[in-house]
Amino acid sequence: MSKLKVQCFGVSLDGFAAGPHQDLQNPLGLRGPELMEWFFPTRVFQKMVGKGEGENGVDNAMAEQGFVNIGAWILGRNMFGPVRGPWPDENWRGWWGEEPPYHVPVFVLTHHPRPPLTMRGGTVFHFVTDGIHSALEQARAAASGLDVRVGGGAATVREYLRAQLIDELHLAIRPVVLGAGENLWRDLDMSALGYECTKHVAGERALHVFLRRKAGS
Ligand SMILES: NC(=O)c1ccc[n+]([C@@H]2O[C@H](COP(=O)([O-])OP(=O)(O)OC[C@H]3O[C@@H](n4cnc5c(N)ncnc54)[C@H](OP(=O)(O)O)[C@@H]3O)[C@@H](O)[C@H]2O)c1
Repeated sequence: MSKLKVQCFGVSLDGFAAGPHQDLQNPLGLRGPELMEWFFPTRVFQKMVGKGEGENGVDNAMAEQGFVNIGAWILGRNMFGPVRGPWPDENWRGWWGEEPPYHVPVFVLTHHPRPPLTMRGGTVFHFVTDGIHSALEQARAAASGLDVRVGGGAATVREYLRAQLIDELHLAIRPVVLGAGENLWRDLDMSALGYECTKHVAGERALHVFLRRKAGS
């Protein structure tokens, strides 16, 4: 059965998944990169950016499993880029260059329509303007039985959690406090929504926490 998963989602101790003031210079917002400092040294990330070997520990294993069995992704528009409001043109093609690390169809939630964008290496960005259920339906069809990963950001993960559609959630909790930005837990009662913690694993630079939606909830 195809699952809807959040994986490798970096959060601060106080629940922030991005810092404030996202823009072209600060894709993750101010101090946002501190949330991903567990990921940057890993072999997975270093290979992604065409650099050397990278580290091969627990954090790397967690990063690796985030890409296993994924047939499609769903992103929020703010994760796709810094453009807000109507698209002024089609020049913005994502943060990741001409060959993004997805290699499967990616469904970007937005209120502003745009034709699909075919990148090198199998990634096609589809812009979905009719809501989270439609994006999920399209992603599941594209994934042909594989899992669908909600990449983020916080607003998008919150929407799918609120709708009780996320089956599994893997958070990489970083030992930092951000104080401001996009908070994953804003207005969410995870217990009432039926989520429970099933496992936690200490990595080199983050605590990896796994939650799942209880059967019947
Ligand atoms: N910590 C991590 O692991 C992690 C992972 C991924 C991303 N991030 C970071 O998180 C930040 C982005 O998160 P965010 O919470 O600001 O935003 P987001 O979830 O990426 O995107 C929110 C935007 O997506 C569009 N959208 C969402 N739901 C929609 C719906 N149902 N219908 C139509 N459009 C919808 C809207 O854009 P429009 O109205 O403009 O179209 C909305 O403003 C970035 O800094 C990113 O780098 C962090």
